[in-house]
Amino acid sequence: MMKFHVLTLFPEMIAQGLAASIIGRAAEKNIIAVDPVNIRNYTTDRHGRVDDTPYGGGAGMLMQAQPVYDAHRAVSGGRKIRTLYVTPQGRPFDQKMAAELAKEEELILLCGHYEGIDERVLNEVVTDFVSIGDYVLTGGELAAMVIIDAVARLVPGVLGNGTSAEEESFYNDLLEYPQYTRPEVWQGQSVPKVLLSGDHAAIREWRLEQAKERTKALRPDLYGRYEERQRLIGRLSRDKRNQIHIMECLARGQGEILQIAGEDAAVYHRESGVCMVKASSAESGRYLLTACPEETKRYLVSRDFMCGLLWERGYREIAVCRQFLYTRKVPLPVRHKDIRQLDTESLSCIPAICDTQNRAYLEERLRAGSMYGAFVGDRLVGFAGVHAAGGIGMLYVSEDFRGNGVGASLESYVINRLLERGYTPYGHVAPCREAALRLQEKLGLYQAGDTFYWLEKPE
Ligand code: ADE
Repeated sequence: MMKFHVLTLFPEMIAQGLAASIIGRAAEKNIIAVDPVNIRNYTTDRHGRVDDTPYGGGAGMLMQAQPVYDAHRAVSGGRKIRTLYVTPQGRPFDQKMAAELAKEEELILLCGHYEGIDERVLNEVVTDFVSIGDYVLTGGELAAMVIIDAVARLVPGVLGNGTSAEEESFYNDLLEYPQYTRPEVWQGQSVPKVLLSGDHAAIREWRLEQAKERTKALRPDLYGRYEERQRLIGRLSRDKRNQIHIMECLARGQGEILQIAGEDAAVYHRESGVCMVKASSAESGRYLLTACPEETKRYLVSRDFMCGLLWERGYREIAVCRQFLYTRKVPLPVRHKDIRQLDTESLSCIPAICDTQNRAYLEERLRAGSMYGAFVGDRLVGFAGVHAAGGIGMLYVSEDFRGNGVGASLESYVINRLLERGYTPYGHVAPCREAALRLQEKLGLYQAGDTFYWLEKPE
């Protein structure tokens, strides 16, 4: 559960503003919690005062340090919790910052009023100064609510299963395409014909064109980023089998280009915190690593010299893999009929068939709507899913159901789901997993020539 504590003089604004709709429902389901804290309750002033006139003169009143500090202490209990002060003087809030904040378990948002807050308490408690735009509001509450809304919807489970943020991000860096609903003709305006055609590929293409046209006209800055990304995808596609993981990260709108060096590049997969580096020489690798964030949790690389460079930086191999990709557009046949998307309730069934997977991670993937299960009657007999970084994986079949094609059906099912979204399915398999390697071949996936390494910094 992600917690948002809001330090404010108007707690009822926060409580009411976030009680309805999707955010309200997520709070009811305990996926998030919104905790408005009244700063006035912490003043030591006998008359309940929280403000005073500024030293050196000037218009209006300032919030005093003491009540803000004590309210913050009451919430944090001395723990280090990321604390945002919402102010027009802050760093501009955007989707990237929202994604970064959504990884925190707890946030404190501090709302100013009047002319601001005594600088000394800001020095003590604030970790981030954040502005929601170049305009001035009467107080920080609306800004805090904007930030909470944008962050909360990225918390797995808030948008409900299946509508993960993953899904919408195909058009990342592009504005939304136009949408239509019934009736087919309204005030003489018809719905574009292609949307009635049932031809999903044509619809996807039309939407992409519309999104591009709009972005080019209204947001040339975003369009420039989109073009840079497409150019890199184009260059990587010359070595598609070995670079599909980076191409898909970018094409699905989940990647941020950190650095480009000729044919090489470092790309950061935002949701999973994985840096993917394509380097054709150690020099290039060394240069690209300088652009990777210090706090990178994991690297995905494909050359021995990259492992060497990362060893020097304290990272260690956690997995060695072969990479496979499915390049056809046609869906695969799925023989096992009862395969469904899993929800968090299925988590209790998983240890019954397998205790080798990391439960916290599986739960996160379940919440993201990225796990699928094969059932026989009510019994879960196998599962597979899409990893946070985009590859197919976590394939597991209960021992007594192996050799029945359940694994093939599960993987085919996941491949088909990805194809529906216009993605190119790919995945990693450890060379020791012979049955899984054979399965990739049987399903018609191509194997990349390179060996892939996942590296992590030990705790
Ligand atoms: N408080 C007042 N104006 C604000 C803004 N634009 N962004 C964040 N907090 C604010």
